[in-house]
Amino acid sequence: MTRHGQLYLRDGVPPRVRIPARGRFGRLFPWLRPFAPDTPAVRNALMELGKATGIMDPGPDNNPNNPAIPAGFTFLGQFIDHDLTFDPTSSLERQADPESIENFRTPAFELDNVYGAGPAASPFLYDSTPENRGKLLIDADRPHDLARNSQGTALLGDPRNDENLIVSQLHLAFVKFHNAVIDQLKAQGVNPGQLFDEAQKLVRWHYQWIVLHEFLPLLVGKEMAETVLRRGRRFYSYRWRREPYIPVEFSVAAYRFGHSQVRGGYRINKDFAAAIFVAPGATGNDLSSGKPLPPERVMDWRNFFNLDAAVTPQLSQRIDTTISRPLFQLPFIPPNMASNPASLAQRNLLRHLTFRLPSGQAVARKMGIAPLSAADLADVAAVGAGLERSTPLWFYVLREADKRADGQSLGPVGGRIVSEVFVGLMAADELSFLSQEPGWKPTLGTGADFKMADLLRIAGVAS
Ligand code: HEM
Repeated sequence: MTRHGQLYLRDGVPPRVRIPARGRFGRLFPWLRPFAPDTPAVRNALMELGKATGIMDPGPDNNPNNPAIPAGFTFLGQFIDHDLTFDPTSSLERQADPESIENFRTPAFELDNVYGAGPAASPFLYDSTPENRGKLLIDADRPHDLARNSQGTALLGDPRNDENLIVSQLHLAFVKFHNAVIDQLKAQGVNPGQLFDEAQKLVRWHYQWIVLHEFLPLLVGKEMAETVLRRGRRFYSYRWRREPYIPVEFSVAAYRFGHSQVRGGYRINKDFAAAIFVAPGATGNDLSSGKPLPPERVMDWRNFFNLDAAVTPQLSQRIDTTISRPLFQLPFIPPNMASNPASLAQRNLLRHLTFRLPSGQAVARKMGIAPLSAADLADVAAVGAGLERSTPLWFYVLREADKRADGQSLGPVGGRIVSEVFVGLMAADELSFLSQEPGWKPTLGTGADFKMADLLRIAGVAS
């Protein structure tokens, strides 16, 4: 049986594990106790910790830059998240067993957010004309934007990829990259019946290369990335479940690190800059999407990645416990109720109760890492419920990045969780380059390496 319409499984080699089309969430540390009981006092403390004007709110202009990570990687991080995990159903109010919650994404780096379920099962994502066989759909009249239906809704494998202008344009870059690879293969005389499968494989493998060799080292540091890649995983194992899964320690805590990287606003091109969101009721431009993109707002990717020595890209914000102001008032989550808060920080923190996550300190000890000191978390004491001693993992990972890595990358606990899940998912996927040809090197682009800058150039959205 093939997965997602792919036809290039190695003949006669059975998959080592089953990759579920959709899986359930799970736990890395099932034996660790929840960081706190679900009581009104703990809920109040979490709401206090994640509120606007609280510890995590940096004030109007005070969320510092991370000199090590250009702003584009924040949205590559978001795009990757949308490839791996989606829990659109769970409630913030009720506790849930992760294994009862369905993940609406395949737990693999295979771009199901772009390819959907393949040309046969998701035909609306594909160009059906014979001359463009194998290509993803682009609106010929509006090639600068995602293809949209008559009501302006983007045609996507994951609706979240049209949540803001930047991730929306990044999705378009991946669509154009796939189509450019189809053109290259066609020019090389590849059999039309093989075009889609060949192109999809090349696109996925180059994307996986970027994930492992550009994105991960930036995020967790070169040493951690190398250690997990070369010497293996110590905590993430899927053998007992016989299929890979997304642990809640990753999806609810460590991988939400990206929320602290988001800037309050971005320069998109020389004529257009705007806040990421404006609060409901406020006026002014913002970068929320979900509607046709005017041509004058097309991305100049030089503002986001190192593409041109003459243009310094904007930077991401430091990985720390401050979150840019607009994220305390998400415009798409009205009304602002205690049970459904519009503050992204409060939502993240409440999820720790929903999924009974262990504390950062408990995870650190389990990993053999000295936990953060009382002084490192002294400010948290003010919110109550003893959260400075037993700290929600997401907050802990952010504070650890600040204290142990100067806010430039994740620290040892956060970095280890992200690295193990990335490498573990890649190793579990029988179609990934790591499984099929571990010695494989990129073949597109200019050299043996392959970076986001190469992908954007080949896609034709940057020069
Ligand atoms: C403008 C940027 C972003 C916005 C507005 C945003 C917003 C959100 C929202 C509203 C949720 C659901 C919260 C909940 O109810 O639990 C969420 C979940 C999540 N976000 Fe973000 N996010 C952004 C960027 C990022 C980035 C850069 C990353 C990582 C690099 C990230 C990682 C995640 C993860 C892992 C989840 C959980 C996904 C799931 O399991 O369903 N996000 N985000």
